[in-house]
Amino acid sequence: MPISKSLSLLAIAAVLVLTACSEAPDTHPAQPVTKRKAVFKQFTRTLEPMGMVARDRKVYNPVEFKASALALEKLATQPWGYFTADSNYQPTRAAPAVWTQAAEFKQAQEAFLAKVGQLVKAADGGNLEIIRTAVNDVQSSCKTCHDQFRKNY
Ligand code: HEC
Repeated sequence: MPISKSLSLLAIAAVLVLTACSEAPDTHPAQPVTKRKAVFKQFTRTLEPMGMVARDRKVYNPVEFKASALALEKLATQPWGYFTADSNYQPTRAAPAVWTQAAEFKQAQEAFLAKVGQLVKAADGGNLEIIRTAVNDVQSSCKTCHDQFRKNY
């Protein structure tokens, strides 16, 4: 087989593999799904070191911890505006309930924001027991919302 032909076969094979593995592209002009997912990923990244402090896997540094709590507080308001009426499309993992139970979805956001507020307060107080509880409460409000409003696959 001429080399150019085997190369083009290789290219086709590569495209097939990529298509099978990657999720649908976000073709919406404003890309709300991509944008909210990016914020959620930052939620995880920002919460992680605080989770480690809460589980005694990282030394508690009050200044660092406070900075993380404030960073999470800043992120915490950001995803919700991207759940626009026209943003239920692939590659979203949002459950239809986001749109059919909008009031409950809003309540879950508010419950989460309240827990993040308590985390910032706990960070100010500097009491590790209170901090632990506050971190756990934030984590369970992430999970409560996911259980109801994020598809489980
Ligand atoms: C009020 C509901 C709600 C809260 C609170 C919430 N999430 Fe989510 N989260 C969602 C929804 C809905 C999606 C699916 C978004 C999509 O795919 O369009 C999601 C997606 C994610 C994703 C996947 C992003 C991706 O790339 O697909 C991560 C990671 C995540 N959330 C982390 C968190 C963390 C960590 C917290 C708490 C600090 C949190 N979320 C709080 C509703 C919530």
